[in-house]
Amino acid sequence: MITTAFDAEVHDRTSFDCGVDSINGFLRHQTTQWIRKGLSSCWVLESDNSKNIIGFYTLSAAALSCEDVVDIGGRQLPKTIQIPAIRIGRLGVDVSHQGKGLGEALLIDAFARASMIDAAWAFVIVDALDTAASAWYERYGFVPISNDSLRLVIARATVLKALG
Ligand SMILES: CC(C)(COP(=O)(O)OP(=O)(O)OC[C@H]1O[C@@H](n2cnc3c(N)ncnc32)[C@H](O)[C@@H]1OP(=O)(O)O)[C@@H](O)C(=O)NCCC(=O)NCCS
Repeated sequence: MITTAFDAEVHDRTSFDCGVDSINGFLRHQTTQWIRKGLSSCWVLESDNSKNIIGFYTLSAAALSCEDVVDIGGRQLPKTIQIPAIRIGRLGVDVSHQGKGLGEALLIDAFARASMIDAAWAFVIVDALDTAASAWYERYGFVPISNDSLRLVIARATVLKALG
């Protein structure tokens, strides 16, 4: 693991800038409440002084319908239940550290944390902000749930394979 749990007493949220206002704004204004309300956990890659945030991601429990994953193993799944999943809600790397492989490292870190959760899940979900973000996730095996969708999923088996 390269990340640690976000701690508002330790981490300075104001200096983080991944270039996307909605992601910066979430970290600044919503993270603490979301953690307290059980809506997501937040994991940060700290600078050497522990204060600055180099990158972060959030994780939450989620659910998919069989139709969402019909082309990605969904045909084998029961139609009567929601398919359990883990959502990577937000993921960002500070612009001063982008292009060094840290986004990929955070994604693998998120997979590792998901793999250790004792509740079962069959897919990891992301909602990409735009087609560029979608293309970035597709590099790692995520598949759009439909042709024009910015919601992408990756099957548990592919996640575990990526973790070796
Ligand atoms: C997307 C993001 C997390 C990538 O972080 P990063 O640390 O720069 O990424 P990495 O260095 O690990 O990149 C790994 C590879 O992806 C490529 N890549 C980076 N951004 C990309 C994009 N938008 N589309 C496609 N490929 C991209 C890199 O060129 C690199 O390729 P290489 O290994 O062939 O050189 C970062 O650019 C970011 O925070 N963007 C703003 C927030 C965002 O879009 N988050 C994701 C959607 S919620």
